[in-house]
Amino acid sequence: MEIDVLTIFPEVVLAPLRESILGRAQDAGHVILRAHDLRDWSTDKHRRVDDTPYGGGPGMVMAPGPFFAAVRELHRGEGKSRVIFMTPQGRRFDQAGAREFSEQAHLIVLCGHYEGIDHRVVEALVDDEISIGDYVLTNGALAAAVMIDAVARLLPGVLGDDQSSIEESFSDAGQLEAPQYTRPAEFEGMGVPEILLSGHHEKIAEWRREQGIERTQQNRPDLSADG
Ligand code: ADE
Repeated sequence: MEIDVLTIFPEVVLAPLRESILGRAQDAGHVILRAHDLRDWSTDKHRRVDDTPYGGGPGMVMAPGPFFAAVRELHRGEGKSRVIFMTPQGRRFDQAGAREFSEQAHLIVLCGHYEGIDHRVVEALVDDEISIGDYVLTNGALAAAVMIDAVARLLPGVLGDDQSSIEESFSDAGQLEAPQYTRPAEFEGMGVPEILLSGHHEKIAEWRREQGIERTQQNRPDLSADG
């Protein structure tokens, strides 16, 4: 998969994805990530990409010109590129969304800043407006990094086989995982559930299912089938 990000903070997108699994995925060519400085498409002599809002009000609005020029240059044609705009006003991103985007060959990700972006960009260029949660970040670059991590880890070859199967059982069941423990069996007076030391694989699997249901009801009742 190829991903082109348009932002005034390319390093905010690139830096977190250079580490660990996503760094190796890029080295191996499973994901080709480019973060472009939107100012490169500014025609202003000071490389400005924003202006004051029509109708008044506080803050600045990102101008349409640089986004239109950049997307026209990077777009590969209908159906080949998907244009995603990171905004707190978008549809909420989740695991199903990550799966959907991971099937696309090319993503163009637009990051906002200031009070917003000229709405003609959204109307004419954007396929999906996406929010990573109901809170407002200072800009979309951090949100883009989060979304790209969730999408890229689903690409073939990025995770080892073990991790992929864990991933599947989690998202298919639509519930949280059971708690995990490792050595030592006793730590600062706290033990490990007896069942996990028993070697009874069937009973352990059953315990994990129950724990998963319990944790889902406790932490994420919105995911529970019975609410
Ligand atoms: N930009 C600012 N806040 C955001 C959010 N919650 N999701 C996506 N993009 C954003």
